[in-house]
Amino acid sequence: MQENEKEIAGFSKMTKRDKIVWLAKNFLYANPVEVVKEFAEYWHDNVEAQKLLDGFSENTLTNFPVPFGIAPNFKINGEIFAVPMVTEESSVVAAAANAAKYWSTRGGFKAAVLSTKKVGQVHFIYKGDKQKLFGFFQEIKNDLKLGVKQITAKMDERGGGVLDMEIFDFTDLEKDYYQLRAYFETVDSMGANFINSCLEEFGKLLQEKVVASKLFTEQEKALEIVMCILSNYTPECLVRAEVSCKVEELGTFDNGALNAEEFAAKFERAVNIARIDPYRATTHNKGIMNGIDSVVIATGNDFRAVESCAHTYACRDGVYRSLSHCKVEDGVFRFWLDIPIAVGTVGGLTSLHPLAKRSLELLGSPNAKKLMEIIATVGLAQNFAALRSLTTVGIQAGHMKMHLTNILAGLKATQEESEAAKKFFEDKTVSVAAVRDFIESLRKNED
Ligand code: MEV
Repeated sequence: MQENEKEIAGFSKMTKRDKIVWLAKNFLYANPVEVVKEFAEYWHDNVEAQKLLDGFSENTLTNFPVPFGIAPNFKINGEIFAVPMVTEESSVVAAAANAAKYWSTRGGFKAAVLSTKKVGQVHFIYKGDKQKLFGFFQEIKNDLKLGVKQITAKMDERGGGVLDMEIFDFTDLEKDYYQLRAYFETVDSMGANFINSCLEEFGKLLQEKVVASKLFTEQEKALEIVMCILSNYTPECLVRAEVSCKVEELGTFDNGALNAEEFAAKFERAVNIARIDPYRATTHNKGIMNGIDSVVIATGNDFRAVESCAHTYACRDGVYRSLSHCKVEDGVFRFWLDIPIAVGTVGGLTSLHPLAKRSLELLGSPNAKKLMEIIATVGLAQNFAALRSLTTVGIQAGHMKMHLTNILAGLKATQEESEAAKKFFEDKTVSVAAVRDFIESLRKNED
């Protein structure tokens, strides 16, 4: 018996329906039949497809639909892509598509992978002679590598595997704490399972070898593994996306109020502000991640990993800064983004989730490097679109159009009412109350 009705034992064993009924009674205080009906509306018609989705997570009640859209006309290294984007935020896909079209007539985007190294760590406690540990590690390093051959065989065949490893002494920061840091090439897979399996084996082997060695005292042999896990910080899994054109090719903005030179200068200043001020940098980078996450999600990759890595990279010199850069020099406008992106195109959800699989097909079944280039490009395009709006007409003009559409949907406006509202609000400020008043007045007039 549970003491509190909000607590439960065996929740995971209950059927979906029973889970929903229990939640409706104890948390929603709503009619369970109605709640089941509501959640069931998002169940997949196809039982097998639903089973697959349920298998991705635990304690599932239903599916949570998020729009899957396309930003066409992305010209990247001369190739045209229609990029799948999964996001709930209005204007994101439209802005990416807009920037893609804009740059497609100005030479398109260039993108290049600069490095693909992944990182993993074995955190351990060693109470003893440091020099002895470091010397011994050099001796056994190759044995550690050989000791994971069974795990790495397939990866080695594909051109990946363990690249190198080193030991770090952190004892000045945490008593007796050392770290084995290993570097990996995981080719087209994100490689989390592969890396973690290697690390756990490294941890075991390190312990075994220290215990078996005559070099160490009993206290030193008590080397303790704290944990073995990959690091999502992969500063050397880096990609660059960029655009450039002559300043005069940028065109005019704000109905001619801003010429190309003025725009370029204002844009460059906006980027510089995000390079010096963490408050602005956070929002600036959030805009970049609007694009990046959308493609990462659409292709079945881990957006939390990409997010956390990007933000650590953004403050690698001790201050959180813009991930993008801009330089206007000798009449040329150049705008670029350097960002570490660890993604895969094989393994994980990439082939299991039917829509992730389709997304990758839409992108021409890229390898991981090409996917990194596409994702970084969308981030840059998103950033360009945001800064172009911010430094010209302001962000609200575009946002409010979308906002109006959402408010109208919320008010269940008819097509006629929506059209009238869009015309009415062309030169007025949109707010939920103002739109509601407008629709109510239309409806009253009809009565
Ligand atoms: C909104 O989701 C993103 C922006 O705030 C980004 C930016 O300010 O650069 C528009």
